[in-house]
Amino acid sequence: CGIVGYIGYRDAYPIIIEGLKRLEYRGYDSAGVALYDGNDLKVTKTKGKVADLVDKCEREISTSGNVGIGHTRWATHGVPNDVNSHPHVSNSGDLVIIHNGIIENYDALKQELISRGYTFKSDTDTEVLINLIEDVKKQENVKLGKAVQIALNQVIGAYAIAVFDKNKPEEIVVARLGSPLTIGIGENEDEFFIASDASPFIEYTKNAVYLEDEEMAIVRFHKGIKVRKIKDDSMVDTYVQKLQINLEQIEKGGYDHFMLKEIHEQPKAIQDTYRGRLLREQAIIKMSGVEDNMKRFLNAKRFIIVACGTSWHAGLVAEYIFEDLARIPVEVEYASEFRYRNPVISEDDVVIAISQSGETADTLAAIKLAKSKGAFVFGVCNVVGSSIARETDAGAYTHAGPEIGVASTKAFTTQITVLTLMALRLARAKGTISSSDYRQHLLELEMIPSKVERALLSDPLIEEIAYKYKDSRNCLYLGRGYNFPVALEGALKLKEISYIHAEGYPAAEMKHGPIALIDENMPIIVIATKKGHYEKVVSNIQEIKSRKGRIIGIVTEGDVQVKELADHVIEVPESSESLSPLITTIPLQLLSYHIAVLLGKNVDQPRNLAKSVTVE
Ligand code: G6P
Repeated sequence: CGIVGYIGYRDAYPIIIEGLKRLEYRGYDSAGVALYDGNDLKVTKTKGKVADLVDKCEREISTSGNVGIGHTRWATHGVPNDVNSHPHVSNSGDLVIIHNGIIENYDALKQELISRGYTFKSDTDTEVLINLIEDVKKQENVKLGKAVQIALNQVIGAYAIAVFDKNKPEEIVVARLGSPLTIGIGENEDEFFIASDASPFIEYTKNAVYLEDEEMAIVRFHKGIKVRKIKDDSMVDTYVQKLQINLEQIEKGGYDHFMLKEIHEQPKAIQDTYRGRLLREQAIIKMSGVEDNMKRFLNAKRFIIVACGTSWHAGLVAEYIFEDLARIPVEVEYASEFRYRNPVISEDDVVIAISQSGETADTLAAIKLAKSKGAFVFGVCNVVGSSIARETDAGAYTHAGPEIGVASTKAFTTQITVLTLMALRLARAKGTISSSDYRQHLLELEMIPSKVERALLSDPLIEEIAYKYKDSRNCLYLGRGYNFPVALEGALKLKEISYIHAEGYPAAEMKHGPIALIDENMPIIVIATKKGHYEKVVSNIQEIKSRKGRIIGIVTEGDVQVKELADHVIEVPESSESLSPLITTIPLQLLSYHIAVLLGKNVDQPRNLAKSVTVE
């Protein structure tokens, strides 16, 4: 979920609505806003997107008021409907809350509150929390901040919350545990912004305070911010960060969708990732997070990679790279499985956590577990200052810039770029790569952005192919070696945004199951580039052909063999096998993009998904 709040001298409504739109990547089942205009607390909420909320607000309320909080939801407890949407109001009607996260012990708390006479309108854990705060406030006869602090000590779960009391309209109380929360501070400390990330307020201020886990803050108009520890109410010194992002980075820049913009940004994003790290002329890779911890890396008996979704696929590519180049045994785990299966981890392990957002709850929990067992944990994140970036012992940012489209694209290729740099640096340190091979890899890596640029030129051809196959009900993606994870990622992209069922498979494994699905209606996308098992993949293509499957080959420029067999080919520039995923993934991204657009789907905000999953 995404949360936004404002207190200051401007109209809160447009700031909150604009902010919610920018946070819609975090969830978009329902949305709501609470505004205070000096007299009334006006709460409007609805199932659907922020645009639906705007319609409702403009129909139903006056949108004036200098204080307000807003929410865009990804449902956990309770189906997305008007009642379950946030904000939630307490029984007295005085307190109002927005919440991102889950209160695990809500049922016990709810029973207790019911026995004290509280009633509930929704099925949410959040409504329980606001009434708990109200109850504490009355019972203990304390101010709002203190009541929030006492209540949160009774809560088990994860949260980022903002609470407002209409009897104390000059303040908003916020708190975080496990879900991110940032406070933007206006120029003269005469206005404050609250949000899940800084994007809602970057045009107003570049000064922000990031709350740490188990911290809360009282944000007071004209008086500033006081940060305290939730546990013992002790004061915390605030550290004001200067934000680096700007508005252009989070706007569509002439593209129809963020996803398309982000696909096209990849040449630059990959370059930004290795800029300053890859010094080809000196044949040096400089990554301070790796350099400073070289002993831990070199002594490691194995690497364990933990991640979810697309980041997990980048981890699978990294498994090939680390094992191939640096001869380090690697295991790749879904963070959600790893954390719950009592894994064998020791101080000799290096755990690499990969996450675009740096906020994925399962990945964060996996890191905490690994740390508790003494492993050294290295993060590969995109969002600077994110929870995972801070929780890990060291790390390397991908520097891809903000990724807004829910289907991950440039995050994937830049994660692979960072992991390739790491593998090359470690291979050099371990002596598992020859000096000439190493130099060759550096040279090839530097050529990737221009090759990606060339791969993007197939866009019109891919759109035509998309048109032919848009009505398919199933789709198979095949690849081998380094391109097996690319097949998985291609299938995931199609599923996510077009809702067509798709599976990725290692090409040779097809014989053991998916081959049964093949008939003349089944499109099969085969990655069959020259380097890496080409002849074997060609045999697999022949097997498909004899079963009348429709073949779309991703081939190296100038290919002849596959061209003869396939229904369509999409050419990509030649590259070494280990770097090929950075190129072969491009046509697959474009194919799913065009199919989704042709089917009229919401590309940037596919149903049921969220970009940043901060609940387990
Ligand atoms: C969600 C997103 C995916 C993403 C995954 C992991 O499911 O929709 O695009 O790959 O989370 O996110 P992370 O931020 O940890 O990379």
